Amino acid sequence: MTNTNIYFIANWKMFGDLTSINTINNVIKLSKNKKFKKAKIVYCPPYTLLNEFFKKIKNTNISIGAQDCHEVQEFGAFTGGISASQLKQVGVNYVILGHSERRAAGDTNKKINKKIISALKKKLNIILCVGENLKERKKGISFNVVKKQLDNCLKQVKNLKPVLIAYEPIWSIGTGKILNISDLNLIIKQIRIYLNKKSKNKNIKILYGGSVNPKNILDLKKVSNINGFLIGNSSQKQNIFVDIIKKSII
Ligand code: PGA
Repeated sequence: MTNTNIYFIANWKMFGDLTSINTINNVIKLSKNKKFKKAKIVYCPPYTLLNEFFKKIKNTNISIGAQDCHEVQEFGAFTGGISASQLKQVGVNYVILGHSERRAAGDTNKKINKKIISALKKKLNIILCVGENLKERKKGISFNVVKKQLDNCLKQVKNLKPVLIAYEPIWSIGTGKILNISDLNLIIKQIRIYLNKKSKNKNIKILYGGSVNPKNILDLKKVSNINGFLIGNSSQKQNIFVDIIKKSII
């Protein structure tokens, strides 16, 4: 863990309805407690709840992100699409790109690269997800897979300051399984060394995602130089999310 800000990105995926907004009260309370000021909480709800979230988090230091955006920056005849410009206009500050669930729905590294470039032009912060599948892990090629994703998704991106990298092994997402801590330490270190060579910015933020819960957080927080976590399922239940944040910081 680093001693700077620690990111807790709550990825709500396609969960939540208008009643869910009241289930973040305890997280808001925690965010106002000085003891936890290192916690940088970013909620990424479904688009339909963005407005409710903005109302709810007013006067807190919680930020709001989206879970994807279209590669075309402004407007266009793309039914169902939402652009970086539209997100920015309503006050969104972060966008998750390259999540494995979006990749499974057709996002290639090339498409993700276009989305990143559009989102950066609109001054959104990016949470770029990378990670191998189980077959690739077993073959021992995890870092090669991640390196290729980084190279292709970050083509022509010179400034990595607004880009957070979320290392998420696909086989770990929603399964309850995580990598052993020494393997996780290794791949986080490999990613950091690699990106430090590629970028002038030496403060690259690297997060871990995949089945983070109140039990395994005690091990996960031991990973050196990790800047935080991308949390799916456990971020949707406020007391579990609060527990994770508390255990990471204390
Ligand atoms: P999970 O999801 O925490 O439910 O495994 C993580 C993610 O998909 O970002």
